[in-house]
Amino acid sequence: MTTTLLTDIGLLVTNDPTLGTGPTGELTDAAVIIDGGRVAWIGAAVDAATAIAELGLGPLSDIDKQSAGGACVIPGFVDSHSHVVFGGDRAAEFEARMAGRTYEAGGIRSTVAATRAASDEELRARLYGFVDEMLAQGTTTLEIKSGYGLSVESEERLVRLASEVTDEVTFLGAHVVPAEFASREGGADEYVELVTGPMLEACAPHAKWIDVFCETGAFSVEQSRRVLEAGITAGLKPRVHASQLGPGDGVRLAIELGAASVDHCTYLSDEDVAALAASSTVATLLPGVEFSTRQPYPSGRRLLDAGVTVAIACDTNPGSSFTSSMPFCIAVAVRDMGMTPAEALWAATAGGAVALERADVGRLMPGTRADLVQLKTPGYVHLAYRPGVPLVQRVWKDGTLVV
Ligand code: NIG
Ligand code: FE
Repeated sequence: MTTTLLTDIGLLVTNDPTLGTGPTGELTDAAVIIDGGRVAWIGAAVDAATAIAELGLGPLSDIDKQSAGGACVIPGFVDSHSHVVFGGDRAAEFEARMAGRTYEAGGIRSTVAATRAASDEELRARLYGFVDEMLAQGTTTLEIKSGYGLSVESEERLVRLASEVTDEVTFLGAHVVPAEFASREGGADEYVELVTGPMLEACAPHAKWIDVFCETGAFSVEQSRRVLEAGITAGLKPRVHASQLGPGDGVRLAIELGAASVDHCTYLSDEDVAALAASSTVATLLPGVEFSTRQPYPSGRRLLDAGVTVAIACDTNPGSSFTSSMPFCIAVAVRDMGMTPAEALWAATAGGAVALERADVGRLMPGTRADLVQLKTPGYVHLAYRPGVPLVQRVWKDGTLVV
C-alpha cells in the first residue's frame, strides 16, 4: 500500500486537542502522513521529511506527495443517521407541506408501499447512488437504517442491502405500524410481537444497532422499551428516535437503556437536557428535518451550554429530510441552532463518531483511519458562510483518494 504525504495544508482540523489549538485541535501549515490506510503522523509541514525518515517510511522519492495548496483539510464527515434504502420519493408531499400542510409520521407508509414494490436491483442502484453522492460531499462514514419494509422478508432485505455498503447498520422494524396491522384493534401490539420475534431474528445477523421511533403516531414508550430490550438481548446496541414531533419520554428511555444516541431532540424539557448532560448518550440533531418540515429548530446552544455531547446528521430520507449534505446541515446548525462553525464541524465529525461508538473515525491522529476531506477554501467557516456551494475538493477514505 502506498505511503502518502499530504502537505501544504493551510488549516488542518484534527479534533484532537493535544495535537492543535482548541477542542477541534487545529494546526496551520501542517502535513499528514498516511500509511496502510491509517494516519501515521501529523505535524508541521516543515517537519514531514524528518518524520518520514524516522518512521522508516522513506525514501522521500518513493512517497506519493500531494499538496493541499494551502487549503483547509478536515476529518471525513460521520453521518450517523440515514434511511437510504427505499423506493419512490415524496416530492408531492414536500410541495404540499411548503404550501402549509403539516408533517405526519403516517407518510412513512407510502414509502413502505414503494419499497416493497421495488426489486433488489432498484433498491441497490439507489443505495449505491446515495453513497457516492455522500462521498462526493465528504461523508466517509455512514449509518443506514431499515424501516421501509416492515415485514420479516422486507426488513431482512433492507438490512442485508445496507450491510453491503456499511458496518453501521440499524434495524428499525419499529419505524411505524404498517397499514395491515394499524387497521385492526390490538394490531400495534401484535406488530411489536413480530418486530421483537421473527423480524429481529432475521435482521440481527446483519445489524449492529436497534432503533425505534418513539413518538405519538408511531410507538409508545412502553412499546419502544420492549423493542429496545429485545434488540439488546439479541446483541444489538440501542439508539432511539425521540421528541421529533412533540415532547415525550423517549429521551429518558434512551438514557435509561444506555443508548449511544437519541436523535431529533426537537422538543426537550429542561429535565431532558439535564438528564442528557449527566449521561453518556449523545443528542443527535438533524437540521434537515426542521428545514424540510418547517418545525422550530432545536437549540444546539442550549445543549452545548448544559454540557451535552451533540452530533449532527442528515437523516436522509424521502419524507422529513431529503438532503444528503453534511455541509448543508452544518450551515443550518450555525445559522439557526446557535452553534459556532467549530462546534458544528466537531458535531458532524467527532460527534457522529461518538454517536456510533467509533474511536477510529471523526478524528485525525496517529492510528485513526485516514478519512480526510480537502476543502476548496482556506477555512471551514466557509461551510456555513457559503451554503449550498460544493466546497469539497478531494476525499480520501481509508487512505485512498476516492473523489
Ligand atoms: O427520522 N422519524 C422517523 N423517521 C424518519 C422520517 C421518515 C419518513 O418520513 O419517511 C425521520 O425523520
Ligand atoms: Fe430518522
